[in-house]
Amino acid sequence: MQQVNLGIIGGGTVGGGVFQAVQRNGALMASRLGVCLRVAGMAVRDVHKKRAVRIPPALLTTNWLGVVRDPQVHLVVELMGGTTTARTVALTALRLGKPVVTANKALLSAHGEELFAAAQQYGANLYYEASVAGGIPIIKVLREGLIGNRITRIYGILNGTCNYILTRMKFEGADFAEVLADAQRLGYAEAEPSLDVDGHDALHKIGILASLAHGFWVNPKQIHVEGIGSITSLDIKFAGQLGYTIKQLSIVKPLERAANRGPAMDGSRVQVTVYPTLVPNDHVLASVNHVFNAVLVRGDIVGDTLYYGRGAGQDATASAVLSDLADAALDLKCGTKSRIPPFVPHERAGAVVPIGEVVSRYYLRLDVVDRPGTLARIAAILGRARIGISSVIQPEGHEGDSVPLILMIHDANHAAMGRALARINRLAVVKSPAVMIRVENFE
Ligand code: NAP
Ligand code: HSE
Repeated sequence: MQQVNLGIIGGGTVGGGVFQAVQRNGALMASRLGVCLRVAGMAVRDVHKKRAVRIPPALLTTNWLGVVRDPQVHLVVELMGGTTTARTVALTALRLGKPVVTANKALLSAHGEELFAAAQQYGANLYYEASVAGGIPIIKVLREGLIGNRITRIYGILNGTCNYILTRMKFEGADFAEVLADAQRLGYAEAEPSLDVDGHDALHKIGILASLAHGFWVNPKQIHVEGIGSITSLDIKFAGQLGYTIKQLSIVKPLERAANRGPAMDGSRVQVTVYPTLVPNDHVLASVNHVFNAVLVRGDIVGDTLYYGRGAGQDATASAVLSDLADAALDLKCGTKSRIPPFVPHERAGAVVPIGEVVSRYYLRLDVVDRPGTLARIAAILGRARIGISSVIQPEGHEGDSVPLILMIHDANHAAMGRALARINRLAVVKSPAVMIRVENFE
């Protein structure tokens, strides 16, 4: 049986998980693929570090270049994270004609086009299933399973750490910082956890999904992102009373004009956003809790499809890496180096819709002086901006100088809403800046 030797760069949460998974299910994979996977070397920063997964010392080295260049290594697995050395690792391997498997969404977001070009130029492939939604095989869904569909919506809960934090805040009233520390201990969070909580990890992921769905590589700088750092237990409670759950939702939504265009989809203008969102409690995504991710993909032929699974952590991510190892190993076995190229641009003039034009409903929480005329002043500003209020709640039982006032707002675009809020925040009766969270109805 043909043997494929792996050079793994990174032996942390994911690298350790992949090593362990190859030991556990390598024989099963060999019987399915007719290829035997063997870890030939693993580069780490510190060979003496105590590791949760025991790696034979003979495999460990700090010399990643030696692993990549080793003629015995057929396939390079980049699991170190970051965008600087990781880029060099991937480019070096591709230039040597070695296929690369990576779980590194930050790398793809920043340097995807360069890496895809290198893969094409040097006739080696690049696989990245583990880069989005942990154990959910969502890259295969878009590249293969739904290849015959025009994708009209993607809604994703794509960051396990954020979902874990929001879930525990909702059900346990847990403290943000304490839950984040648990997410780090469990191996869910990025080495730099602000990437998770400020929404940039989800931004990297939704950029990859949007690019695959719409055929132009989305510039990450054009993706509007808001993190979960400003979400308070008060908003989680009021959202619950209104029948909603707050989730960090990543959205890909082509404007209707583009969705209805001809087969080439030339000129697609697509909303690509990441922000905390009120999800109706009767929608399936409201029930996706803890580290789980879910992605709802709507195709023009298939309709709605839903994918659910662990979005972060050692084993879930290792499972996705194994799937890429199988594809890459089969390429090597069959000599089909680019049966599925990593990315095929097929939209000549796609563009991301600027956030100012993005339309949604809103939840507004204001901290106001409880005095006659307050609501009228706020409503007048919204009315002049042609922004409609769908409901108003002033919860009873609040004491002190100010009280919360919750407004649910009809569809409005971000720019108009921003201007109206700036005026509302300047009112003397408004005691602190308004909290604005979007509301999604999944139409
Ligand atoms: P991690 O636990 O911090 O592991 C990083 C590994 O890279 C460590 O073993 C580290 O060595 C090694 N490393 C760093 N710099 C190196 C260098 N210059 N030379 C050699 N080795 C080096 O990170 P992780 O959680 O496994 O994440 C790895 C990648 O997978 C990231 O791109 C991440 O975004 C992605 N990912 C993670 C998850 C998850 O749930 N954790 C899920 C999906 C994707 P030492 O061990 O000696 O420090
Ligand atoms: N830090 C990431 C998350 C890891 O929490 O989703 C999986 O990509």
